[in-house]
Amino acid sequence: MRKFEVTYEPSGRVVHTPEGTTLFNAAHWVGLAIESTCGGRGTCGKCKVKVLEGDLDPTPEDHRELPAEEITQGWRLACKSEVHADHVCEIPQLMKAPKAATAGVGRLVLLDPSLVKVHLELSKPTLEETKSDFQRVSDALDLAGYGGIEPTLEVLRSLPDALRADDFDVTAVVSGKHLVAVEPGDTCDRLYGVAVDVGTTTVVATLMDLRTGMAVGASSGLNRQAAFGADVISRINHSMSGSAAVAELQEAAVGTINSLLHELYREFSVERDNVYEAVVAGNATMLHLLLRVGPQPIALSPFVAAFLHPLDLRAAPLGLDIHPEGRVQTFPSLGAYVGADIVSDVLATGMAQEDTLRLLVDVGTNGEAVLGSAERAVATSAPAGPAFEGAHVRAGMRATEGAIEGVVLGEDVRLQIVGGNDLEPQGLCGSGLIDLVAQLRVSGMLDEAGRMLDPAELKGHPLAARIVEHDGARSFQLTDQIYVTQPEIRELQSAKGAVAAGIDILMEALGIAPEDVEEVLLAGAFGTYINPESARTIGLVPAVPLERIKAVGNTASEGAKMALLSFREREIGFELPKWIEYIELSADSGFNDRFIDKLRFPPIDKVTIP
Ligand code: FES
Repeated sequence: MRKFEVTYEPSGRVVHTPEGTTLFNAAHWVGLAIESTCGGRGTCGKCKVKVLEGDLDPTPEDHRELPAEEITQGWRLACKSEVHADHVCEIPQLMKAPKAATAGVGRLVLLDPSLVKVHLELSKPTLEETKSDFQRVSDALDLAGYGGIEPTLEVLRSLPDALRADDFDVTAVVSGKHLVAVEPGDTCDRLYGVAVDVGTTTVVATLMDLRTGMAVGASSGLNRQAAFGADVISRINHSMSGSAAVAELQEAAVGTINSLLHELYREFSVERDNVYEAVVAGNATMLHLLLRVGPQPIALSPFVAAFLHPLDLRAAPLGLDIHPEGRVQTFPSLGAYVGADIVSDVLATGMAQEDTLRLLVDVGTNGEAVLGSAERAVATSAPAGPAFEGAHVRAGMRATEGAIEGVVLGEDVRLQIVGGNDLEPQGLCGSGLIDLVAQLRVSGMLDEAGRMLDPAELKGHPLAARIVEHDGARSFQLTDQIYVTQPEIRELQSAKGAVAAGIDILMEALGIAPEDVEEVLLAGAFGTYINPESARTIGLVPAVPLERIKAVGNTASEGAKMALLSFREREIGFELPKWIEYIELSADSGFNDRFIDKLRFPPIDKVTIP
């Protein structure tokens, strides 16, 4: 992707922006909030900038909104001016004292949603003035800075009654270019949206009040698709049996989201019909299934998705239980295996907008990684399989009550159990497994090649007697009932080898060494629970000082919230695929050699730095 340099005066801020980005978005990328009241539709005229250097042809919106004289002087609407050359331009006015809301990982965003309500006191028709009802609303919206709005058929059907119910006093609900609803009276005090992260395992819905920017409440639940398999590949396999199976998977996903929404509506006394927008993030397979698009080609070489771009759809045909004419916006994906959840992670963390060199790792069935900064960012996905979730461990279980989530090996074995350490341990979840393997390495019971030592080689070791034969394999006995075998450790080793090899390829693409990484961000549910030190000990993440490794939580939800709260953040999020290069590992001839290399665990002295 070609990039051009844009300098904004008088601040002198410089941004290297991909071709085709608007001057408006490129400015926001470096923290310059150009004034706007129309949400970037090209109808308010507030975003004008003066182009001092670099040719930039005027757009139809420039001709409509700006006097000819200003156009000759170089003034352009930033929201409609795409960058195809280097430019210097002057911003006459930045947004003053913007309303702000906290979202993302401690990021402050401008509260400037794409979804707005506009109270309109319309003139009444007379025999002399017989504009259509829609024209009446459209003209009033145009005057308020919301021109070019499109109604849906349902909105048109509702218009005659809505206008006359309260004597032509109405509230228009606008999302982007769409007229979502026209409601009798002034209903501006009720404006909600919902951010949804459709994870393969867990679905999270956050109800947002778009007037205040505050989260009203959040709810999460197990994705009902789990009944068709734990990972994306088993869901895709199920979908291969035909369109009825795809429909079944869609109903399961929509059913999960709707039950979370109903819970939120009930608990916080919010009417479904006051929720007008949903922004959805999720991996590419989850988005395909949510929209009832067959995901089969994703599982077969050359791994092609039916769509990767962001979508803007009506809620009703999808069955999503918000206002039926509400909009459903999906984040874009980078590739079949670096999905919209990762794009949302990148938006939330700001890693493609800031100078800090960061590595974001989201480990699930696939290990997705993004490395870079505002200068350049690269991403990939490594086929980790479900080993990190403990799926190949006989004692493996989800991180629910009774799961061992942390292990410390010293003179004895200490366990941390979900729900309280006095509970009887039922099994081992992913973070517990990684802890165990890391602790086996630190305590000298597992060598660099991943071989569990024979008790005879561990003379005098306080835990030597815990290494026993179980299920026909050398195993470590964690409790009376729970063992982890050598082949199970090999599975984890293989998964971490794939992720580490992927990260290595990203570092090579940027020409950097592990110590150059300023922050490692562990994203997703797994990233929240994993012990950073253990991740480093087994070589899943580069050997950097511990304070540089951070769990950032469910950043996919945070990114979706930001896109709800700010049209500027949404546009940046939706343009991120232009900024991030996707590296397909199966096309990388060096991957296998690196994978073999990364199967080994790092020497302990290299991973015990502070
Ligand atoms: S015209 Fe309103 S933001 Fe550009």
